Amino acid sequence: MTPVTPPADVLWRSMSPERMIDGGLAAADVRRLRDATDAGTPWDEALVAIAGDRAAQAEKALAAGQVVTAREAFRWSAAALLFAQMAWNDDSPHRVALYARFTATVARAGALADPAWEQVTLPFGDGRLFGWLVRPVGPVRGTVIVLGGQSGWGATYLRAADALLARGVAAFLVEGPGQGETRMRGGVLLDVDVRAAYSTFVDHVLADPSLGGSVGIWGNSMGGLFAGTAAASDPRISAVCVNGAPARPRLLGFRTFDEQAAAMLGGAGEAEVRANFDRIALQARDRITGAVLVVHGGQDPIVSREEQQPFLDAALGEATLREWEDGDHTVYRHGEERNAVVADWFADHLAPPRATLLDEVRASFAATPDPRTRAVLDAVTRHVHALVGEVRPTHPEWEQAIDFLTAVGQTCDDTRQEFVLLSDVLGVSMLVETLNGGDHGTESTVLGPFHMTASPRRALGDSISEVGLERPAVVTGMVVDIDGRPVPGASVDVWQCDEDGFYDVQRPDVQPAGNGRGMFTADADGAFWFRTVVPSHYPIPTDGPVGRLLEASERHPYRPAHVHLIVDAAGFEPLTTHLFVADSPYLDSDAVFAVKQSLVREFAVVDDPDEAERYGVRAPFRRAHFEVQLAGERREETA
Ligand code: BEZ
Ligand code: FE
Repeated sequence: MTPVTPPADVLWRSMSPERMIDGGLAAADVRRLRDATDAGTPWDEALVAIAGDRAAQAEKALAAGQVVTAREAFRWSAAALLFAQMAWNDDSPHRVALYARFTATVARAGALADPAWEQVTLPFGDGRLFGWLVRPVGPVRGTVIVLGGQSGWGATYLRAADALLARGVAAFLVEGPGQGETRMRGGVLLDVDVRAAYSTFVDHVLADPSLGGSVGIWGNSMGGLFAGTAAASDPRISAVCVNGAPARPRLLGFRTFDEQAAAMLGGAGEAEVRANFDRIALQARDRITGAVLVVHGGQDPIVSREEQQPFLDAALGEATLREWEDGDHTVYRHGEERNAVVADWFADHLAPPRATLLDEVRASFAATPDPRTRAVLDAVTRHVHALVGEVRPTHPEWEQAIDFLTAVGQTCDDTRQEFVLLSDVLGVSMLVETLNGGDHGTESTVLGPFHMTASPRRALGDSISEVGLERPAVVTGMVVDIDGRPVPGASVDVWQCDEDGFYDVQRPDVQPAGNGRGMFTADADGAFWFRTVVPSHYPIPTDGPVGRLLEASERHPYRPAHVHLIVDAAGFEPLTTHLFVADSPYLDSDAVFAVKQSLVREFAVVDDPDEAERYGVRAPFRRAHFEVQLAGERREETA
């Protein structure tokens, strides 16, 4: 249901022609509104009609290819919708719909601008913050966050943005807590940490290097308070303009203002509004590090010069008062001149972007003579800073991180490499492997930590299991080049764990050194074969810091069953890989991410006594075949 429109004379009192022109309404439309309301047309109805006509004009211009006119007409249309919805202070569905139409019309205008305006949405608490990012043509010298107060929000300040843009400064027209889309769609009211919300807008600006690296904030009406307190809390703000804001807000006892204050809190009662005003006020301890400009209208009926004084007093650096003696609230009456003065002031006071800590550290490595070392140090610096910047560790957390890495180092000895294990469980070993693996031949996979002892030389057909072959297995293979031609005499180094999942080095009391290992030489046809047992899946070592990491993240430590191989031959790329056992558990969740499907083979049960006899094992036995294709250029052996 459409809410009742308040009488026009009441609305004209809070919305002067100067205010509406400052907010982007065309002068002719102010006149038309006056005539319409004088003739008895309700305020909002008259403005919606104006908005419709301006939008039609924009469409017509667009059809004629007159893009600039179309954009201007959409702006006039948007302004008419802005002032139409201002007839009400609380959010009926009708009002919310009108505001959405205002936003949509701003979007039409913004799409025709060059560069186009961006509608920004930022997560904040359980809700979202909204804003329009408007960039100048060419290089950006900084960005000013512009905001209003209890009734003028976001795109209301497009004319302020024009003034900033003309000076090479970007404008971020934001809708803060309790305002505009942030309140109606984003669900963020004025009961949140308001300073943190504005810092979220600052974060967004500073995260985008194309926005010039320095930030100002310009708050109008009650928005001046939000700007001033944000600047007191956030030293990244290098300049703040407070235009017509009380440092300690209070209920003024007239309907419009007090209703708007309540609506910013979702329709709160008087006591709640008062308590919130106290909470969001500029506090005695607040200090502003950036430059401060206070703008005052000498005839402002709402905010006195004294109420603005605390912003000047809070400034630790430069503080300037600019007063228009005949100025009304926020100096609507001199809107064009006020915008010029404030935009000039920002252009002069936005700090030249300071070299960041990151810049300094990167510069310190810039003279590293070796180019590869220089590039690596630069990448390490950038990525570690980005990581810490994202995670924002507390001091105890940082200490914990250092302790963890210390423990990883202290766990390393001649037979234990915990750093490699850490790289394995983070998938980094596999990444390095993949980046270095070629596109041809058998796929490679991780080396793992158990290749620390040389494998004993063995003859083809030997058993690598020195503790018996109760349940025998035979692995046969062929080494070929990428054309499938045999590679004679290739060395084939194999190592694996036993049926209980242990390598020899892990249980020296149970397994003799060299158990499960063998260094073979393929025959003249590239063939190799050996006897063994089927290895078991097994856990990677969990008794160190990497084990604690897995436990803390509820990850299992298991690797699927596999035989390791390093195959090498003169003239070929050496290949480090695995042969995975097809029916092993954990093939789809290897703790070190090293499984490649192309490396999985059946260990088929063979129950043929003749076959068993051929390999010198008892039947039944299990057999797997693995063709290894080596990449690289075959070197012609010279006789
Ligand atoms: C291995 O397969 O031997 C292995 C690989 C990475 C971490 C631990 C063990
Ligand atoms: Fe292994």
